[in-house]
Amino acid sequence: MRNKLFRKKSIEKLIQENQETSNPLKKVLTVKDLTFMGIAAVVGAGIFSTIGSAAYNGGPGISLLFIITAVTCGFTALCYAEFASRIPVSGSAYTYSYVAFGELAAWIIGWALILEYSIGNIVVAISWSSYFNNLLVHLFNIHLPDWMLIDPATAKNAFIESTTALSSGADLTAKKIESYQFAINAYNAAPTIGDTKIFFNLPAFIIVALVTWLAYIGIKESKKSANFMVYFKVAVILFVIVAGAFFVDTNNWRPFLPNGFEGVLKGVSAVFYAYIGFDAISTMAEETKNPQRDMPRGMIYSLLICTGLYILIALTLTGIEHYSHFNNVSDPLAFVFEDRAPWIEKIVSISAVVATTSVLLVFQIGQPRIWMSMSRDGLLPKKFGQIHPKYQTPAFSTIVTGIIVGIGSLFIESDLVTDLTSIGTLFAFILVSGGVLFLPPKIKEPGKFKLPYINGKWIIPILYLIFIYTFQDRIINAFTGFHLENTVEVLFMVFLIFAALISILTFIRNYSFIPIMGVLMCAYMMIEIPLVSWKWFMVWMIVGLLIYFLYGFRNSKLSKEALDYN
Ligand code: ALA
Repeated sequence: MRNKLFRKKSIEKLIQENQETSNPLKKVLTVKDLTFMGIAAVVGAGIFSTIGSAAYNGGPGISLLFIITAVTCGFTALCYAEFASRIPVSGSAYTYSYVAFGELAAWIIGWALILEYSIGNIVVAISWSSYFNNLLVHLFNIHLPDWMLIDPATAKNAFIESTTALSSGADLTAKKIESYQFAINAYNAAPTIGDTKIFFNLPAFIIVALVTWLAYIGIKESKKSANFMVYFKVAVILFVIVAGAFFVDTNNWRPFLPNGFEGVLKGVSAVFYAYIGFDAISTMAEETKNPQRDMPRGMIYSLLICTGLYILIALTLTGIEHYSHFNNVSDPLAFVFEDRAPWIEKIVSISAVVATTSVLLVFQIGQPRIWMSMSRDGLLPKKFGQIHPKYQTPAFSTIVTGIIVGIGSLFIESDLVTDLTSIGTLFAFILVSGGVLFLPPKIKEPGKFKLPYINGKWIIPILYLIFIYTFQDRIINAFTGFHLENTVEVLFMVFLIFAALISILTFIRNYSFIPIMGVLMCAYMMIEIPLVSWKWFMVWMIVGLLIYFLYGFRNSKLSKEALDYN
């Protein structure tokens, strides 16, 4: 049993299987397409929506968080690049874990990646819907009924918050009263079935259906659409940075850390969410002309471009508007121009719709390709690997992805799924970074990427000591005020122990600096995500394990081959 769970795939076998596939995918992507696909996947709901709450908590200092997160993703991207150059097949972190850690870890990662791709896309579809509705109202004066624009939990919470606020007798501004009244009216106007009020997010569902259709009919069509959308959204973001510079009041940047570094760290999930996507390129290996050279480049180029844009946007936003005004603002980029330059606000809203569409597209393309790889390995039924004879795309998986994301975006609340997406993705990033340490040594070949080896023996333990020194107050507080209910500090202490162990191992085994930094920084970001999301993450993983033992464990191609061989 133990052997089965940890049975690994060999790199040579994977590449051979890939070459022997009877029904291969179309090879059309170049380094430019991959970089564009990366930007298409990264710049979306994060920078157009979730950055608002991060700015409110952290103030102008969130630009530091954008840098820290970029460095974290940078270490991981280099590890992804190493894997992508060695194993140029679809499947991303799932396939990489199969090689590095074996079948069980591969399944766990494949299951966690559903959080990144499908569940993550629910957030994007909801963000798309809100900007789209904005456009309908402001450009065309079309008002859809509110119960068609919102999930049940958000509608109910808004109703409760509004009735409580209005009956509290607090001194409220006219604008606030109007918005509370609006939420109450919207709730009361919803149709009912029996005693249940009906709410769903129809535009979110429709966009998912359209994007699924695009992903279904072909990678070439998807590529063309993604390229166009990237040009547009990058142009608008550059424009916002340049035009915004004229409205910046440098007084807004002081104090730079109004709520200390703690305030900045509250934005971890939102900011990390904004970076998710560069890794999605690694699901397109089979459609890439020269994957070993171009996939690493595509990932790193897209990450660098997005980092530059993000840092500038964070500074521009917090320079135009005082950070304290971003409370509950879900469309911060449009919001800062609302009174200053309404025409820019409209351009931003159009761009947000385009940007989120491109994110949706890349993840709707990525998810089926991961399932396709899992199905080829026998961990999912054969149907998931079925390729459409005409369009040459994984047809069945594409439709299942569309159904899951579409139905989810009709009814699910956005905040929880953002955290869940970030945790799932960070988890995958940790395994990919750590997995590099378990690859056999390789000599650099011309034209192929190779991860530079820097011995972490001394650097990692020294960095750990610097970390302890910097966080000494928090550590003392965590130990002196320790009780199990203080869950944030419990997670922090778990991290301290984990990082100490990794530092000792690195000292003894001379582990490579880059992967170890990827592991440690992602682990740190993970523990900054609230515990409630961790609980859901655990539930998700337990369900995944059950499915594995009921299906994948028995049907795995690798263990069947081993049985035949024996
Ligand atoms: N990074 C992607 C976005 O922000 C998921 O929409």
